[in-house]
Amino acid sequence: MPNTKNYHTSQPDYETAIDRNVPDFPVAEVLDEDKYFQNHEPPSYLPEIEAQIDKFVDFHCQQTQKKVVLVTSGGTTVPLENNTVRFIDNFSAGTRGATSAEYFLENGYAVIFLHREFSLLPYSRHYSHTTNCFLDYMVEKDNKVEINPEFADSMLVVLRKYMAAQKANSLLLVPFTTVNQYLYTLRLASQLLQKAQSDALFYLAAAVSDFFLPSSRMPNHKIQAQPSGKLVVDLEQVPKFLRRLVDSWAPQAMIVSFKLETDSSILIKKSVQALNRYHHQLVIGNLLQTRKNEVVLVTPDEAQNWIRLDDTQKHQNVEIESLIIPAVIQEHENWVKNWTAKNK
Ligand code: PMT
Repeated sequence: MPNTKNYHTSQPDYETAIDRNVPDFPVAEVLDEDKYFQNHEPPSYLPEIEAQIDKFVDFHCQQTQKKVVLVTSGGTTVPLENNTVRFIDNFSAGTRGATSAEYFLENGYAVIFLHREFSLLPYSRHYSHTTNCFLDYMVEKDNKVEINPEFADSMLVVLRKYMAAQKANSLLLVPFTTVNQYLYTLRLASQLLQKAQSDALFYLAAAVSDFFLPSSRMPNHKIQAQPSGKLVVDLEQVPKFLRRLVDSWAPQAMIVSFKLETDSSILIKKSVQALNRYHHQLVIGNLLQTRKNEVVLVTPDEAQNWIRLDDTQKHQNVEIESLIIPAVIQEHENWVKNWTAKNK
């Protein structure tokens, strides 16, 4: 089935233009997260997504009994104008998320793939960024288009997996572009996933903006040249929603977050700090420079499980996600067992 969604998250909601009656987002108060939602409009297409997620979760809870993972992927943007020409972006091609989603599907999970619109997707990722154009995989023969025989065997493997996911209705694509769209959709999805109880897993690989421009201060139109010759942008800190996700949006689910650093000497410390701050179950630490070859799984008891590709695996182009996902699933199985024992 082709994707038939009626909206694009990369287009701003022009109707919900600047509202100067909305007060500024206050800095550091107790219920920062709630204030955020009071002071920022939900995306207009949210009801459409709500219906899709609800149906998907019901289908798997009632009919397939599959565990459901919400994979977040790609970077969020912070628009600087309501009719957005300029925005601040977060680094992430979506490779980690899209690749991980495929291994979750292979391991029997249903996947809600909350991704930056137009970033890498499961299955199509193999063909989107690896050559100049998807047409590079085609050849012309007898006035017809065919798959280049050089790629046909590997493409057949990917095609079969893709068709299997489609047939089983086990992959739901949900897009975001801005951090506001991401936060509203994450909250919505986590609340709908409560039905799956401890069978729900959150795998938060998205690179989420730390700072944003509140809607009360967002100019409606493209910012013009400034008399001073400088543009000064005054951003607020994005509230720490992870704590809210753990405590109240999805208290029965297992939550995995990522920690991206560039300095190896602080990676473990920052991962432990995240666990202490948010009280979730697992942090996957990775360094920007080596993220495709090694990661570390850190649990609340401060145990560190390094996963590394050896030279043979690197040579054979083994994807590190094929090792990460079974380790995460093992942790999730333990979580489900403990949760079931506690709630008997
Ligand atoms: O897509 P690739 O190019 O393959 O790159 C993958 C990656 C390096 C981006 C990925 O592996 C990774 O590390 N993602 C997390 C990046 C990061 O710095 O996250 P953060 O510090 O902004 O947030 C920490 C964690 O909390 C993340 O799991 C994030 O998804 C989650 N978070 C943070 C804030 C927020 N409001 N909501 C969140 O879900």
